[in-house]
Amino acid sequence: MDLEEIARENAILKTVLNHTDEAVHIIDCDGITRFYNKVASEMEGMDPEEVLGRHILEVYPSLTLETSSLLKVLQTGKPVLNQQQTLINRKGRAVTMTYSTYPIFYRGQIVGACDISRDITRIKELSERLLDLQASLLGRKTVEVKKEAGVPANPYGARYTFNDLLGQDPRIIKLKVAAQRVAASRSPILVYGETGTGKELLIQAIHNAGPNHSGPFIAQNCAALPATLLESIFFGTVKGSFTGAEDRQGLFEMADGGTLLFDEINSMPVELQGKLLRVLQDGTFRRIGDTRLRKVNVRIVASTNMDPLEAVRKRHLRLDLYYRLNVVSLRMPPLRERPGDIMLLAGAFIEEFNKMFGLQVKGVTREVEDIFMQYSWPGNVRELRHCIEHAMNMVEGPLIEKRHLPYQICRMIQPGLLHGKVDLRGGLQEAVRSLEKELIVSTLRQCAGNVSRAARRLRLPRQTLQYKLKNLGIKQERL
Ligand SMILES: Nc1ncnc2c1ncn2[C@@H]1O[C@H](COP(=O)(O)OP(=O)(O)OP(=O)(O)O)[C@@H](O)[C@H]1O
Ligand SMILES: [Mg+2]
Repeated sequence: MDLEEIARENAILKTVLNHTDEAVHIIDCDGITRFYNKVASEMEGMDPEEVLGRHILEVYPSLTLETSSLLKVLQTGKPVLNQQQTLINRKGRAVTMTYSTYPIFYRGQIVGACDISRDITRIKELSERLLDLQASLLGRKTVEVKKEAGVPANPYGARYTFNDLLGQDPRIIKLKVAAQRVAASRSPILVYGETGTGKELLIQAIHNAGPNHSGPFIAQNCAALPATLLESIFFGTVKGSFTGAEDRQGLFEMADGGTLLFDEINSMPVELQGKLLRVLQDGTFRRIGDTRLRKVNVRIVASTNMDPLEAVRKRHLRLDLYYRLNVVSLRMPPLRERPGDIMLLAGAFIEEFNKMFGLQVKGVTREVEDIFMQYSWPGNVRELRHCIEHAMNMVEGPLIEKRHLPYQICRMIQPGLLHGKVDLRGGLQEAVRSLEKELIVSTLRQCAGNVSRAARRLRLPRQTLQYKLKNLGIKQERL
């Protein structure tokens, strides 16, 4: 590579590094800063000129050879991953960040180290405020429960019972029977199902039917937060465990005597998954930075929108955690696999919104029923509920018509097919060809462009469908 090329590559890399959301700080093997991007400069409140070309310890006098992760990585050659720290920056602002530091090797020699960090001050504040709110809510509710003794429904946020779980499909009925049986125990449960299939509804119903029903029901989404923050949210912290930490209860303690739901467990950072094994085993854990072992009685439930075995295969879910959670596993079938429930649910939702909006809608037209049966409902029961809510805002007469439906649902359905309008001007062969094309396109759309799924639905071998796509000039990117 000639110098010109090297310079060009350098410019490309610098542009990229200057426009990521993460702070990047790179030092060479002498501890001198060689790169310091804009985000880093904003986070630390320092101008790049103050940092570039100078030694780390000169720029950050409070750091030492031991406490600077960049220098440590330079010495050990080993990365330091997912750490959290709070510091007061040059402008006097307290910044909490997560960071990882990596060694940089060139031809087997360590030539520098690179620090990548993310400012999580705001989400940390928000999640702590949420924790405090939850704690004070739980505190208050306990008092209320005592006052209104005999209130059967759970006051802590689990509002659904098995009566709310509608459906006549044999799989739903079997699922309900199984869930009612496991509700009586405290075994961990893993619930798997696509988005909107009713996982949380089922889990709340289990909680309300189980021995911990008078205790709290707490759900925490595992996808939204970085590992270090989630860890302190679950386990709590003691003052001084890391800079900026306070004495704070975590969700395990708050959910004591109740149920804790790990929502979207397949999105939980894997390093944190390992830390859950112990508390799942015997209910004991330590707050972060604490020596005291605490014990809680919490029923653990986890949900995943990915097939758990696939999640294990793709390393989104640790195998050992999967075994612990999978004591009882329940699968919520997608709506398209239980077409018999579509109109039943639609009817129930119409009733619900009739009451809510003071309407007297009787049902849907034949055409809308056809559309409902044809549509694939990728958002499952939630999408159906939203669709009815939308229509109930639009409807004037006693029946929901096609024009009252949300646009994305009508769009999926080919009008020519529904009305049986066939253009015969080009002769029978041409009409059949265009009908075939229409059917394939609409099936593909319903399957979100997934050829294998569409082939199964059309009962064609995949290769045959591929051939037809080519032959009929169907371009998938145009769907
Ligand atoms: N069998 C059912 N009967 C009645 N309502 C249902 C049923 N299943 C789901 N719902 C309704 O559908 C909506 C979505 O359900 P829920 O929040 O439990 O889905 P989820 O599987 O947790 O979805 P996500 O993966 O997106 O979190 C809720 O309004 C719920 O009341
Ligand atoms: Mg959910």
